[in-house]
Amino acid sequence: MHPMLNIAVRAARSAGTVISRAFEQHDKIEIESKGDNDFVTSVDIKAEQTIIDTIRKSYPKHSIISEECGELKGEDSDYQWVIDPLDGTANFIKGIPHFAVSIALKVKGKLDQAVIYDPIRGELFTASRGQGAQLNNLRVRVKQHKELSGTILATGFPHKQKQHTDAYMGMFKDLFVQTSDMRRAGSAALDLAYVAAGRVDGYFELGLKPWDTAAGELLVIEAGGLVSDLSGGHEHVNSGNIVAACPRLLKVMVKNIRPHLTPSLK
Ligand code: IPD
Ligand code: CA
Ligand code: CA
Repeated sequence: MHPMLNIAVRAARSAGTVISRAFEQHDKIEIESKGDNDFVTSVDIKAEQTIIDTIRKSYPKHSIISEECGELKGEDSDYQWVIDPLDGTANFIKGIPHFAVSIALKVKGKLDQAVIYDPIRGELFTASRGQGAQLNNLRVRVKQHKELSGTILATGFPHKQKQHTDAYMGMFKDLFVQTSDMRRAGSAALDLAYVAAGRVDGYFELGLKPWDTAAGELLVIEAGGLVSDLSGGHEHVNSGNIVAACPRLLKVMVKNIRPHLTPSLK
């Protein structure tokens, strides 16, 4: 295992212990609002600090961008860790056991290492550039489909950008009538990890942040899939609007999404 992936796994597991222990004492969680339908808890913060301390112990000069503390510039900006200490905070707050730690490493701007760890199920998704994607050290691959019939797609509703509700519902409807079913589970990181593992056949969502998708994107790519923006291009990190699937199904998904793109979603 690549030494930097090893440190990322160590950090994810340490944060996972913080999160799962807090989940057992659910009534003690402190919650703050960050904006419309957007919350942070004392556990997000503690998990984030655990991850940063673990990374900094081995790589003190690396840069970090993390959801709750923002950007921490390091002397060696070629290396940037992209961290979501607890993806699925709303599930965590409600007591729904579906959330994960997401850690990615970018080297000279390219995704290089990825870890998504589900502390409740003990599922560790990992990927190193060019080395494939694994779930608990076993190789995983995206499901190959050339059409929507028979597929199950994961998605997220634009709960923080409700101005896009009509456009999103148009995309959802056109896809849903052709798929077998949809899933909205509440963790973008796990949605992408499940695409990589073939548990769902594709995924699309609007309004995500780089830390939601960085690790999941490398997992999907290393599992033989593609990740794009809503037009099939490469603006998904900047726009936060994402589609992920095997290459042929992604093309079909984008074809059904495109007619619903408003100017602010292009
Ligand atoms: C959220 C989850 C959710 C997605 C939201 C994200 P958070 O991340 O990934 O599934 O729909 O857009 O913000 O806030 O729990 O880290
Ligand atoms: Ca997130
Ligand atoms: Ca988060």
